[in-house]
Amino acid sequence: MSDKQNKLWGGRFSESTDEFVQAFTASVNFDQRMYDQDIRGSIAHATMLAEARVLSNDERDAIINGLKEIHAEIEAGEFQWSVALEDVHMNIEARLTDRIGITGKKLHTGRSRNDQVATDIRLWLRDHIDLIDGELTRLMQGLLGLAEREAATIMPGFTHLQTAQPVTFGHHLLAWFEMLRRDRERLADCRKRVNRMPLGSAALAGTTYPINRERTRELLGFDEACYNSLDAVSDRDFAIEFCALAALSMTHLSRMSEELVLWTSAQFNFINLPDRFCTGSSIMPQKKNPDVPELVRGKTGRVNGHLISLLTLMKSQPLAYNKDNQEDKEPLFDAVDTLLGSLRAFADMVPALEPNREVMREAARRGFATATDLADYLVRKGIAFRDAHEIVGKAVAFGVAQKKDLSDMSISELRQFSDQIDEDVFEVLTLEGSVSARNHIGGTAPEQVRAAVARAREALSR
Ligand code: ARG
Repeated sequence: MSDKQNKLWGGRFSESTDEFVQAFTASVNFDQRMYDQDIRGSIAHATMLAEARVLSNDERDAIINGLKEIHAEIEAGEFQWSVALEDVHMNIEARLTDRIGITGKKLHTGRSRNDQVATDIRLWLRDHIDLIDGELTRLMQGLLGLAEREAATIMPGFTHLQTAQPVTFGHHLLAWFEMLRRDRERLADCRKRVNRMPLGSAALAGTTYPINRERTRELLGFDEACYNSLDAVSDRDFAIEFCALAALSMTHLSRMSEELVLWTSAQFNFINLPDRFCTGSSIMPQKKNPDVPELVRGKTGRVNGHLISLLTLMKSQPLAYNKDNQEDKEPLFDAVDTLLGSLRAFADMVPALEPNREVMREAARRGFATATDLADYLVRKGIAFRDAHEIVGKAVAFGVAQKKDLSDMSISELRQFSDQIDEDVFEVLTLEGSVSARNHIGGTAPEQVRAAVARAREALSR
């Protein structure tokens, strides 16, 4: 049999496809990842066609059994994927006809690869959104556990990466949690638009068979059937939306990564990362590198790239389906793999972080972190804030020259700057006093951190 006769669409062709063109246009090497979704879609389609009397029940049963056997073959690694058969859809359909004969050729009645592939991607992405949500939730739970444990651990809070005010480590971890909470909201919102069904749109205009889209919708667990056949086969907004939220979520992970890289350095030494998350250097025997956060930080770039790829892919495409759309899969798949892998690595790593509490505390003590507290103290004694700011600025300059923190100064040293300063000043100059005083919703006080953890836990379990 000649090559052209082998093709499922060979009828109108008079010569075989150029060999390079065949390889160039094929997608099976990457879209075979959707075999499970493709088979589920076909089973639902065949079930509906039989109910609509387009297929007999025997034909339906033969098709469904054949598809299930093919599914098992693929899972066992015994399926022979063929580039000549172009994509996952035609590979599976051709194999079905091999196995069950002419009835296999009836599966594609009232359907096109255009609505088939759009359905497959949505099912695939929906499945993976659920996996991502699981890892994201696991990471968020890990952060809450650590934040609760470290609710009273003091560290410097930074602005401009300069010591600003003391904060609790638990509070810092809850800031990470808030980024992820928004990511999770965006994921759930994206899922709503992913979970709509193109099947039934056929090539572009719908089909002349008496199909029941409501039935396939129900069988496949979609929320709705897409409203317009031209839009349904050509829309890839859902993939763009996913990549946008994935890029933002990776951006959040990259910010956390950057802090972990800084904190595990000898210069900060705030955190010890257990060896199992690190690697060594082949030349410098002393090195222990924070590879996991570094790689997550680096991988953010490729997800940003995938978002731009998909936006550019869709830009200016005329309705309806165009072969361009085959280019949607690799960016989407890689964005999913990258986000899922990064979340998993973080979810494993976060509960294992070991804070060096003494080092963190000492860093806060050394950096004049309670200077604002001294200014607020003077305001309570009746001095205007701007004047208080000036007074404390001078005290800090003195401390820099004398290599003394504010809390290391004697009362007479402090009183050089204002006679409003009394013995009670030392209560506000302590790190514990400083964090405990910020005792309102969203503040850094240990009490607030514990309450925020409890609220977040309850919201996460809903
Ligand atoms: N492999 C194709 C894709 O990924 C499937 C749809 C092809 N449709 C077509 N009429 N050529 O988009």
